[in-house]
Amino acid sequence: MSSSFLDALRCQNRGKVPIWLMRQAGRYLPEYRELRSQYEFISMCHRPDLIAKVTLMPIERFDMDAAILFSDILIILELLGRNVRFEEGKGPIIDRPLQGAEDLHLTIKSAEHLSFVAEGIERIKEGCNKPLIGFCGGPFTVASYLIEGGSSRELTKTKKWMFQDRESFLRLLQIITDINIDYLKLQIKAGVDAVQIFDSWAHVLSSHHFALFCKPYLEKIVQALSSTGIPIILFCRGSSFFAKSLAEAHPQAISFDWMAPLACHRSSLGSHIALQGNLDPHVLFGTKELIEQEALSLLEQMRGDPGFIFGLGHGVLPKTPIESVQILLDRVRSFV
Ligand code: CP3
Repeated sequence: MSSSFLDALRCQNRGKVPIWLMRQAGRYLPEYRELRSQYEFISMCHRPDLIAKVTLMPIERFDMDAAILFSDILIILELLGRNVRFEEGKGPIIDRPLQGAEDLHLTIKSAEHLSFVAEGIERIKEGCNKPLIGFCGGPFTVASYLIEGGSSRELTKTKKWMFQDRESFLRLLQIITDINIDYLKLQIKAGVDAVQIFDSWAHVLSSHHFALFCKPYLEKIVQALSSTGIPIILFCRGSSFFAKSLAEAHPQAISFDWMAPLACHRSSLGSHIALQGNLDPHVLFGTKELIEQEALSLLEQMRGDPGFIFGLGHGVLPKTPIESVQILLDRVRSFV
């Protein structure tokens, strides 16, 4: 497969700048909303045919340079015997959230129980010649959902446990790390070409606590998969702040938030790591001129960089005008 995205992950892209967007398979797409009106989100994640269909929607409409698997970071909670449902306006709701060490006597199922994901991946690979990105959540982020029972602004319950009983909190992080490794191996076996780890809630931590509660577990996942040769991208909100620490986990790439210019990260991290990002997703609510200007400024900043992947600093927002995504793609594609 010749792919500017995979070449960029190896810092060897001499062709056009590749582009894909986090959450490209989601609610800003009218065809997704139409399909979603017939099914619950979580039941869609269980159907290989729908996994393939939604994954390919942004490829068919925009010809993105990579596809990302349609699923969710919370699917693995099923392996811990927890059901997840998604309520309109509320986000995920997890039954029987974990409250402390006494809840860690968990029965853990193998990732084989998520074979519908593997089947989805196989179907995608049959119908598509673009690289496919698999993913999982960062152990800290997944732990926070398991403890909070859903979305929370401050992660108070999570931090209480973390600071009151560090030993059992680290045990929980290790449990999730092992599940994620097992789950990513299943995805790799089924055919994904790259993997991204979303530690979306890392930004609530100080750099000291990031080094204790995020980095070691991200590093363990990177190490456990290194023999597969599949490139790994690390994403977290707060990545600009944690850049050095993230790089020390030795991923092939870091996906950056929009807080600092990518060119600054390039000069501080050196040339051996791919950099993905980092437009503010809200830029896509601006005018055509604004979107083009912002895109151009990032393209100029990273001109000729063989390890640059154009993207957003976080996911496409659900109400993003579909035309804006097209404007962005056209601008990136016409850059010479
Ligand atoms: O990027 C993609 O297009 C691939 C699919 C994908 C989804 N979730 C589909 C989804 C990926 C990679 C994720 C990752 C994910 N899930 C993260 C990390 C990335 C990030 O955005 O920070 C997190 C924190 C979750 C957990 C999650 N899933 C929440 C908090 C929510 C509710 C809030 C929201 O955005 O709606 C979801 C739901 C979700 N995951 C939807 C989709 C398409 C919307 C479901 C719907 O149709 O109602």
